[in-house]
Amino acid sequence: MILSEKISKLVKDQEGWTRKMFEAGIRMKEEYGLENVYDFSLGNPEIEPPSGLRSRLIELLEHPVHGMHRYMPNNGYEQVREEIAAYLCRLSGLPFTALHVFMTAGCAGGLNVVLKAMLDMGDEVILPSPFFWEFKNYIENFGGVPIIVDTKEDFQLDVSLIEAALSEKTKAILINSPNNPTGAVYSRESLQELAELLERERRKGREIYIIADEAYRKLVYADAPLPNLFGLYDLVVSVTSHSKDLALPGERIGYVAISPQIAEAPLLVSGMMIAIRSLGFVNAPALFQRVAAEFQENSVSVDEYRQKRDLLYDTLMEAGFECVKPTGAFYMFPRSPLADEVEFVFKMQEEERILVVPGRGFGKEGYFRIAYCVPMETILKARPGFLRAGKRYIRRVRN
Ligand SMILES: Cc1ncc(COP(=O)(O)O)c(C=O)c1O
Repeated sequence: MILSEKISKLVKDQEGWTRKMFEAGIRMKEEYGLENVYDFSLGNPEIEPPSGLRSRLIELLEHPVHGMHRYMPNNGYEQVREEIAAYLCRLSGLPFTALHVFMTAGCAGGLNVVLKAMLDMGDEVILPSPFFWEFKNYIENFGGVPIIVDTKEDFQLDVSLIEAALSEKTKAILINSPNNPTGAVYSRESLQELAELLERERRKGREIYIIADEAYRKLVYADAPLPNLFGLYDLVVSVTSHSKDLALPGERIGYVAISPQIAEAPLLVSGMMIAIRSLGFVNAPALFQRVAAEFQENSVSVDEYRQKRDLLYDTLMEAGFECVKPTGAFYMFPRSPLADEVEFVFKMQEEERILVVPGRGFGKEGYFRIAYCVPMETILKARPGFLRAGKRYIRRVRN
């Protein structure tokens, strides 16, 4: 997209690679036909919401609760927050109450509300890389400064680099596990190490929050369970969403879970109430709050995603790509066979009609991201293209 001079400089800088590729895909599909373009550019699940969700919606509309379309407290319905708090108690063993749950317009809405409530101009937020590009935009929305820190070769947290990046201005570290774009699930050991570092800082009088983007928290393959962050460190604010686990991204529903161990939780909530109004969200969508409360224990089929991961990963291995096997979410982040991954991504587009996103769109050059939340058929049809690309580029590089 060419952005005109009339658009603010900040917004122009915020245009990401994922949308660029997605839009390129729309143009290609018009030219070659939908079935002849293999679009792995966007994390937009093609899976439908769990059965029962639609019938619950219909039931709610046919038997409306009086006043259910009105304004409500900015943090959401009390009863919804109580139900979610009960679920969080079961999950974490901590005494969550309705106060600790704040309903939001998805994870994106939640992160913006939290960051707006927390950040003053110039406050720093540590961002392990590669990262979901919007994080940088969200932090900068409120005058915050993202401090980008590399992860290890296997995309696990590098706590010594995080320690080196701490400063007087560090307000929080924003982590995302299961991770977009790598599919990595941060290990208990690395999170424990991070918690110990932040605990040491706390004893020196510096309070640093972990803001955890857990949008993919239920999409974890059995070989790597998601550690319970609330049990590792006190100052944890987890932001989640039902865009992926209930396949409802268009409905904009999610919530923030504030650890009951945070003594200032009521203050943080008051700040978030102001933030959600001044950002113009006002409150999370009313109808979907009620549905979300009832579907906390549900999720789309993780097994279906696992099958897709296995087919795609095996294809990449057969083709000769280097890639850390993902253990969560629905992304893969292989190394690009060409030093300039943008060139490789365009070659894949032109030669194989396969759409992927350059790693620099996630803060890491030399890699590319594949979003495999697509029909199995798309992976099967794209398979020969990945194998040909392997022959064409990987063998050539190695010889
Ligand atoms: C890591 C991460 N966080 C947040 C979001 C936004 O999620 P939501 O639709 O819940 O706002 C996405 C969407 O792809 C994501 O990948």
